[in-house]
Amino acid sequence: VAAPVDVEKCSNDVHMLVVPYPARGHNLVCIQLARKFLPYGVRVTLANIFDNLSPDLLHVCQTENITVANLGVCPADPGPGNLPFMGDVESVQGETEQLVANFASGTDSLPVTCIVGDILLGWTQNVADKFGIPRYVICTSRAGFLAAFLHMPTLAGQGIVPVQPPEASELVDIPGLPPTRRGDLSPAVQASSLFCKYFFAQYVHRCCQPALEAAGYFINSFYELEPSCIDLLRSFPYEHENSKGSSPVRSFFPVGPLVHDEYLQLLRLEVAEGSSFVEPGAPYLRWLDRQPTDSVLYVNFGSIVSLSKRQIHELALGLEASKQRFLLVVRPSTVKDSDEDLPLLPESFKAHTLETGFVQSQWVNQLDVLSHPAVGGFLTHCGWNSTLESICRGVPLLAWPFQADQMLNCRFLVDEAKTAVEVRKGENGFVSREEVARAARELMAEPEGDAVKENVRKLREKVKKAVCEADGSVQKSVENFLAELKTSRR
Ligand code: UDX
Repeated sequence: VAAPVDVEKCSNDVHMLVVPYPARGHNLVCIQLARKFLPYGVRVTLANIFDNLSPDLLHVCQTENITVANLGVCPADPGPGNLPFMGDVESVQGETEQLVANFASGTDSLPVTCIVGDILLGWTQNVADKFGIPRYVICTSRAGFLAAFLHMPTLAGQGIVPVQPPEASELVDIPGLPPTRRGDLSPAVQASSLFCKYFFAQYVHRCCQPALEAAGYFINSFYELEPSCIDLLRSFPYEHENSKGSSPVRSFFPVGPLVHDEYLQLLRLEVAEGSSFVEPGAPYLRWLDRQPTDSVLYVNFGSIVSLSKRQIHELALGLEASKQRFLLVVRPSTVKDSDEDLPLLPESFKAHTLETGFVQSQWVNQLDVLSHPAVGGFLTHCGWNSTLESICRGVPLLAWPFQADQMLNCRFLVDEAKTAVEVRKGENGFVSREEVARAARELMAEPEGDAVKENVRKLREKVKKAVCEADGSVQKSVENFLAELKTSRR
């Protein structure tokens, strides 16, 4: 972040309490957000719920002078996939209030002046209300996801959610989005999903509804990526949906991409030197070194998604049939129902793998992979972090979504940004080898893929400008937020 030169813009009377949902992705996004304000003299306290900050992120906080406040004790059952239940997380509300009260009463401490609460932590609104300070929502995903999220209470009121299975293909109008398939909305509102059974009421009433009471929103996106959606969010009269009937000022601050620093450093280096580089190292990188430029399709489904053995087997056969080079990442946790009596990878596949493909069964350094000149495409589950990272490195996408915001992200990438080719699912969600091969060839080897590549290249230029220029849209968002805080406190 460029240091501000203008003393006028200094905000050393601002104390921001940032409260992430306790999962790595959320912690990272929240810390990257907080860091944008440090050069302005803003004091930041970060809530470390259930002591879940990883050592590397704790280190960032220490070196950057972000105060870490430990809240709550991790419950015995940490929740599905180690994602804490929202009800458990809610239990730290009292401790959070105590923390704010302590800052307010201490003689040598700066009272908290605003709360930046995770989009999934609706109760942070109650804390802010109790102390009469504004809560700003941090949306770890894109503007389009926020648009759908804020409209959820209305859809619930109209009986449109929960979505019954036969209604999945029906379209629904959501301000800020093109007509949207009901089945593409979050699994939390799909009546057929287990998630809906347990989380529907929490999702709509404890997360979406309180978000409507917030003073404003930080979005993990940049204006140039979703201009029409952000414009609409800014002009849409959400006060009609606010249970209190009041009409607070609602501001939207796109401050992304809130990705690892290295992605942004590389963008800056490109601006400065017109180059990028990759350190040599792991075997998968050495294998990439031997492949021609833009020839390899990188396949990775992020940190949470898992596929059946049968689907991974089929995917492998599809990659083989596509005749494209590939780097396939399948970690043990990527495989579900491992008792299926089928080898994970086909025999033929193993035999020729070393020539045209590489299978990696552990975590890779995605930055290194996406930055490697041999990588020409990324088959992704459309997780928002992976998507932003790919845009920062100018790599076009093959979109294969599974859950959460991924279906909406896929529609955005394919239909609006036109930076992805879609992998089409058949009946019951299974993807055939023929479809994998078709989509891989279309992106990597056919003229249709050229337009997609060109669009990603243009988007990368836009993100460079948004992030790296002193008057870029991201810096403006940060300063607009500080100016708004000053005005609202007068
Ligand atoms: C979750 C949800 O699934 C997603 O829909 C939402 O948008 C964000 O939270 P996740 O499944 O972890 O995310 O995917 P993603 O958002 O893409 O994040 C994965 C992160 O792990 C990326 O930063 C990626 O660089 C990193 N990663 C993943 C690696 O560095 N190496 C790997 O091998 C796999």
